Amino acid sequence: MTTESMISGRAKLAGVMGWPVSHSLSPRLHGFWLQAHKIDGAYLPLAVAPENLEAALRALPLMGFRGVNLTLPHKELALGIVDDIDKSAKRIGAVNTIVVNDEGALIGSNTDGFGFIENIRRAQPNWKADTGPVVILGAGGATRAICVALQEAGAEDITLMNRTREKAEKLSDEFDLNVRDWQDRGAQLGGAALLINTTSLGTVGQTGLDLSLDALPPDALVCDIVYTPLETELLRAAEKRGNPTVDGLGMLLHQAPPGFAAWFGVEPEVTEELRRFVLAATLV
Ligand code: ATR
Repeated sequence: MTTESMISGRAKLAGVMGWPVSHSLSPRLHGFWLQAHKIDGAYLPLAVAPENLEAALRALPLMGFRGVNLTLPHKELALGIVDDIDKSAKRIGAVNTIVVNDEGALIGSNTDGFGFIENIRRAQPNWKADTGPVVILGAGGATRAICVALQEAGAEDITLMNRTREKAEKLSDEFDLNVRDWQDRGAQLGGAALLINTTSLGTVGQTGLDLSLDALPPDALVCDIVYTPLETELLRAAEKRGNPTVDGLGMLLHQAPPGFAAWFGVEPEVTEELRRFVLAATLV
């Protein structure tokens, strides 16, 4: 990978809006593909405060931007600003990708759930969403995207457990899920085909999940959306007892190609080299 700039006066422009945005790995991720495909384009970190989101989004077509990704705290707010949204963004209630169309309209979509499913499918080609019960720990924004994607893929039996039970109940009312007590999380793993951690527990500097996997069937797939560290305590414990696992970096990588293809006109690949390149930024 060279650092030679490919940007000319005709460069195609996109970026990521967040507040803060400095932690975002997306400029590195899209930058890798821009260089790999020798595209005359740029993908920029755009620090936009929530109160300026609407003005900043409306400015995109005026400045010739092809679109943006959105990260915290903009994903939900953008829903009420964009001109049109796709089915997934509507169900999830959040927008993570915006494409400026030929008329200058802002078209919102949500590829987070797609990224989650695609990550599993690449790692486990024979995986099916309707294999059996799904157990999800957590009830935040990522949980919504994952529930919608799993249901669209055919999952019928999803159980949520969250420290704050009301948040799980709220999701359950909306998406017809089961809710169990956070304290019972270990006991609820019996019969699960898929276990997903969507909480921030296990992230560097935080406590772990404190979860016994004794009741989990040996062939259940275990996913963690935490990717710092890449191998969380949960994934290590699952691997140790022989369960297949999928790490959290893949979800981030796989949510990106649809936006990149729309803005820059090339379908990019999620490769091992890309994984290593993006991962290197999480280790510093
Ligand atoms: P988002 O920003 O995606 O909406 P978030 O607020 O970061 O989500 O959610 C983090 C998730 O980790 C939540 O499910 C949160 O549980 P609560 O809803 O009870 O806050 C969970 N979480 C964070 N710290 C936790 C802890 N110490 N114990 C248990 N769960 C925790």
